[in-house]
Amino acid sequence: MTATDPVARAAELRATLEEANHRYHVLDAPTMPDRQYDRLFRELVNLETAHPELLISDSPTQRIGAPVEGGFRSVRHDVPMLSLGNAFGADELREFDARVRRGLDLDATGPAVAYVCELKIDGLAISLRYDGRRFLRGATRGDGTTGEDVTANLRTVRAIPLRLHEDPPGDRMEVRGEVFMPRGAFAALNEQLERDGKPLYANARNTAAGTVRQKDPAVTASRRMSLWAYQLVGAHGLATHTDSLDLLRRLGFPVNPNVRRVVGIDEVIAYTEEWADARKALDYETDGIVIKVDSLAEQEQLGFVARAPRWATAYKFPAEQVTTKLEAIDVYVGRIGALTPVAHVTPVLVGGTTVRNATLHNIDEIRRKDLRVGDTVVLQRAGDVIPEIVNAVVGARDGSETVWEMPTHCPVCGTRAIREEMEVVTRCPNPFCPAQRIGGLLHFTGRGGMDIDGLGEKIMVQLVARELVSEPADVFRLDVDALEGLDRLGRKSAENLAAAIQAALQRPMSRIINGLGIRHVGGQTAIDLGAWLASQLPRGAGETDADWTRRAADMLRGASADELTAVYGIGRVVAEAIARFFADEHTRDTLHRLLDAGVTAEAPAPGASQAADGRLSGKTLVVTGTLPEYTRSEAEEAIRAAGGHAASSVSTKTDYLVAGERAGSKLARAEKLGVPVLDEDGLRRLLEGRQPERPMRSAPPSKAPAPT
Ligand code: IVH
Repeated sequence: MTATDPVARAAELRATLEEANHRYHVLDAPTMPDRQYDRLFRELVNLETAHPELLISDSPTQRIGAPVEGGFRSVRHDVPMLSLGNAFGADELREFDARVRRGLDLDATGPAVAYVCELKIDGLAISLRYDGRRFLRGATRGDGTTGEDVTANLRTVRAIPLRLHEDPPGDRMEVRGEVFMPRGAFAALNEQLERDGKPLYANARNTAAGTVRQKDPAVTASRRMSLWAYQLVGAHGLATHTDSLDLLRRLGFPVNPNVRRVVGIDEVIAYTEEWADARKALDYETDGIVIKVDSLAEQEQLGFVARAPRWATAYKFPAEQVTTKLEAIDVYVGRIGALTPVAHVTPVLVGGTTVRNATLHNIDEIRRKDLRVGDTVVLQRAGDVIPEIVNAVVGARDGSETVWEMPTHCPVCGTRAIREEMEVVTRCPNPFCPAQRIGGLLHFTGRGGMDIDGLGEKIMVQLVARELVSEPADVFRLDVDALEGLDRLGRKSAENLAAAIQAALQRPMSRIINGLGIRHVGGQTAIDLGAWLASQLPRGAGETDADWTRRAADMLRGASADELTAVYGIGRVVAEAIARFFADEHTRDTLHRLLDAGVTAEAPAPGASQAADGRLSGKTLVVTGTLPEYTRSEAEEAIRAAGGHAASSVSTKTDYLVAGERAGSKLARAEKLGVPVLDEDGLRRLLEGRQPERPMRSAPPSKAPAPT
């Protein structure tokens, strides 16, 4: 693998981290490896920012933040901090206007609605509370219900008034707004880092978010953060949002000067067009336009749907496109051996992020777009979406460009790569390929598998490097003493991890199957297989879970592709992959050793056929957005466990959409199709066998949170 390719670097980073850890351990030089570790860590953060597909829940970047966050007190928001629905393009803005008009009982002849258009600042939403004129407390949005108390850091933001210029309406007042890092401040920070020979930050938004959650307010202070206030919580006797913004200005808050009150959706559209380019000249990043109904009485009448107001929406600017040079194409080897070509481009700023690479998916895509190394290419990035190469600028070719070929051998282990007929993906067939091993082990111990809390990438890299773990069963042989020898793991953590490992010995069959990482088998298929085993193998009288697990493993090992095709939910291709997997000698050994290590599935209750009569049998649900308690995969798992089908896209066949914070196009589509929308509580009610009395979308506004 080439060290200059940033995406392949994510894989390499693991190896480098491993080496760094090793050197630390062997050379016993405490300061340098620490610094090196931090550098690699920051590099990984930047990579994951540019390439969300590389981000796994156990990534060090996902964990290291935790103790810092744990350091802040939780703050419950009196009025939840909601998110906004999205509108892409003028047509969707007109649809928004039509929904607003329906909600206000205005027909085509009625008056145009007055809206306020605001730039959507790409920073971090915060809540500021005042006690009389005094700044009392500042909090992050968090999950919308509970955020973090970051008062000490926000005090360092000079744009935030610590004392109001006038008496506020009411003794207690709450103001919301967006803290952000101005482009100039961000550039200056990166210049300083560059002078110091340190790695740079990829974008201002994430840097701002990190800065607000700094442990040391002095660091926040040095970063020159700023604020735009955009909301006064509560009506306070005012008639319009415009009035509340005027009041905020008088009280001493910075209110963006580009806010404009307009009448009718045509003027809204004109505003979005006006700012599409003009925004690039601003000293702060924007990612859209927020459109709000101006009248507070009308806001109240419109109310909320699935945690977003009906009286506002976020127009998203079209994906930004830039041209850059395709310098090289490298290959990244994934967990199940897929060789993914990755474009390495001349670093270019697009949508506020420095992009250095873009996924190319597979060789067919490279051919279809006729991309050649050395080409000038058009690159685009929309919102949080992975950067993508749209096309090559053919006219810019000078003949020096070269056609790229997929390597014939795995760039990591050198095994001859294969590409099966009918498949677009080339893969490394060697199950012992180092690129696959750590990824495979992390999949096994991760959330969808044995779900071992605390066994993340950093620890796994060390375990493999020290030859303590080379295959799944080895994990269960780790004891406190072995774990305590690892870097950054004290006695207490080692004990916790050892306990988590022991607890993971018992898991539902579907998780064990999923953890094995069988090609084509994801969570739903694993559950279908688990249900099939449960229905085929009733528990014998006096049979233990362990005995049943062995019988189930035998059944899997003996199952032919034909038999598997008969399993509900499993088609030919998947059945063949499963049969091939279990017929493999290596798999048989792996399973054997897992059973010997004590891995046990829960046997079905006598006579039960798992999930067949579940509460959601025959129902199709789609989960979108961020739910307060469940992660998305937990919610989907709960749906499946209740016999339901967790689908990924909304259609007329969808029975319910479960929508959380930041639900976007799926929510809009559900609304369009009249699919009932539930929040997490609604899902829980369904799972408990109660009807969700009122899906959110038909909730009368009076039952929804008060407009803010
Ligand atoms: S109003 C209920 N106004 O966008 C409406 N939000 O997806 C609350 N944002 O979390 C938001 N600029 O972080 C509003 N001028 C603006 C905004 C703005 C940025 C962010 C905010 C919020 C998110 C909504």
